[in-house]
Amino acid sequence: MIISIGCDHIVTDKKDHMVKYLEDQGHTVIDNGTYDHVRTHYPIYGKKTADKVVSGEADLGIVICGTGVGISISANKVKGARAALVRDVETARYARAELDANIISFGGRIVGEGLMENIVDVFLETEYEKTEENAKIIEKMNEFGSEEQVNDEEFFDEYLEKWDQGLYHD
Ligand code: RB5
Repeated sequence: MIISIGCDHIVTDKKDHMVKYLEDQGHTVIDNGTYDHVRTHYPIYGKKTADKVVSGEADLGIVICGTGVGISISANKVKGARAALVRDVETARYARAELDANIISFGGRIVGEGLMENIVDVFLETEYEKTEENAKIIEKMNEFGSEEQVNDEEFFDEYLEKWDQGLYHD
C-alpha cells in the first residue's frame, strides 16, 4: 500500500518509528514531515497528509500530534478526508469497516509505539464493509462544507423524519 503520513514537531520520533515500521512491511510511505523538532504547526501536516489520500496518490493516511486532536481536526477539514482519532484496536477496525475512514490519527504523547503498531496493522488490513445504510451516512457527511449546507436549518430534516418514523431504531 501507499501510506501518507504526517506529524508535528513534538512527535517526530513516533512518526519516524512508524515510517520505518511500514517500510519494513513493504509499504511505500509518503513522509510529509515534519522532519525535526523545530516548533511548527500541525494543520500544515494534517492538510498535506490528507491531500495525498483524497487525491488518490496514497491509499490511506496516518496523522500524529501530541494528543491527536489538532491534527485530526485539521485533516478532516480537507474535503473527502475521514480521519479517525483512535486509541484502541477495535475503534480502528470500526472506523475502517463501517465509516470507510481513510486516515487514522494518534496522540503520540498518549499512545505507545507498540499499541500504535497494532492499531495500524488492523487499520490497514480491514476492508470497508459497504452497506446501503453506512454508504448513505457517509454520503451525508461528505455534503458538509458545501455552500448549500452552511446555515441550512433543514439539512437533516429527511433524517429526522425517518427517525420519527422509527426507521433507525434497532
Ligand atoms: C503541540 O502543538 C500540541 O498542541 C499538539 O501536538 C497537539 O497536542 C494538539 O492537539
